[in-house]
Amino acid sequence: MSIFQIAVDGPSGSGKSTLAKGVAARLNIMYLDTGAMYRTCGLCAIKKGIDAKDEAQVNKMVEDLNIEVKFEDGIQHMILDGEDVTGQIRTPEVSVAASDVSAHPSIRRKMVDMQREIAKSQSFVLDGRDIASNVLPNAKYKFYVMAPSSVRAERRLAELNERGDFSQNYDEVLRDIEYRDHQDMTRAVSPLVQVPEAIVIDTSRQGIEETQDLLISYLNEA
Ligand code: DC
Repeated sequence: MSIFQIAVDGPSGSGKSTLAKGVAARLNIMYLDTGAMYRTCGLCAIKKGIDAKDEAQVNKMVEDLNIEVKFEDGIQHMILDGEDVTGQIRTPEVSVAASDVSAHPSIRRKMVDMQREIAKSQSFVLDGRDIASNVLPNAKYKFYVMAPSSVRAERRLAELNERGDFSQNYDEVLRDIEYRDHQDMTRAVSPLVQVPEAIVIDTSRQGIEETQDLLISYLNEA
């Protein structure tokens, strides 16, 4: 069977990761969470005391950035300087640092090269912000996943609480989401955009399984 890619882009908390992961499992193909890669860059900046907004500092960090993506039984692990940091990249602090650091071209060049290399040899569902517009503009299928920011904030809060993280209340989570939306959509390099050919999926309209069914129905139609 030929190799194909499914690009799933959308804002923070839109449910794109849950959707992309679920669809990949149902199609028995690989799933790449590109946000996890930028999160690992954000974590690297925090660990090294680098200001993620400062271009010169970030450019210096990129020179010896040592990030690997490993798949174990199909599950993505993020490795930073030889350490598995998969469990450390979902905190509110890392979310903001990831958004800040991902605005710099030097970081994006490195991550995009890695993403293209990973996705070239097998069928993949990739989720992110610039998959359809930049990473894989020739992807066979392109989706733009969205939900109102209030719904996204509720989900993100529930996710944090489930992990035992009660560091933020609803208003703070909403504020972070709006900060990241603004930054991810307005940055100069590869901002989050909905490419004209993308199929829009609003995840607030139905449950997880129905949303997966909907996406898969578009694949069958194409
Ligand atoms: O999807 P996420 O929330 O895990 O992504 C974390 C940050 O990484 C997000 O604020 C923007 C950035 N990102 C990006 O710029 N490009 C991607 N392809 C994926 C994520």
